[in-house]
Amino acid sequence: MIPTREEAELELQLANELNPGPWINHSKNVARAAETIARYCKLDEDKAYILGLLHDIGRRNGPSAVKHTIDGYRYMSAKEWDEVAYICLTHSYPTKNIYQDIGKMDISPDDQNEMEQFISNRNYDDYDKLIILCDSLALPDRLCVLEQRFVDTTMRYGVFPFTVLRWTATYELKKYFELKMNCSLYEILPEIKETIK
Ligand SMILES: [Fe+2]
Repeated sequence: MIPTREEAELELQLANELNPGPWINHSKNVARAAETIARYCKLDEDKAYILGLLHDIGRRNGPSAVKHTIDGYRYMSAKEWDEVAYICLTHSYPTKNIYQDIGKMDISPDDQNEMEQFISNRNYDDYDKLIILCDSLALPDRLCVLEQRFVDTTMRYGVFPFTVLRWTATYELKKYFELKMNCSLYEILPEIKETIK
């Protein structure tokens, strides 16, 4: 259902040759954060790392917005790495609504229907939640507090009527994992702690 760490790293390396960009290092940072949080929550660390590394793999096809989610889903499904395929779709939707996406809707109405069905029927598990959270903790060059990533994406994509809903849903996920870990998220990610001293 999922690749090994080595297979996942090779996939990202191949993707870097097809469509290099900041998204590659962002993906590596998502993987590191997910692995660390998983360790503190007694989840599968390797699985968290692999899902984090490949959540944006649809970007291998070139620059795209919403399309990268369904491209990743199809690419991972074709390899029968279903659990990665699901993450490729869910990671962009903290509010479980594909129309509350900051990226442009660059897919066909049929594809939108397929995604909408999938997202609304999916009961997000801890790994879906973990990668949504870590996506908001990872800049290309380092991990950061949620607020910094929120400002970073808002400056690049703009403000939408659902911007605060997305932030609120992401804060809920932070709280969800902090309850599991019984400590602050930033306590276990020391490089973030350094930046907020
Ligand atoms: Fe991402």
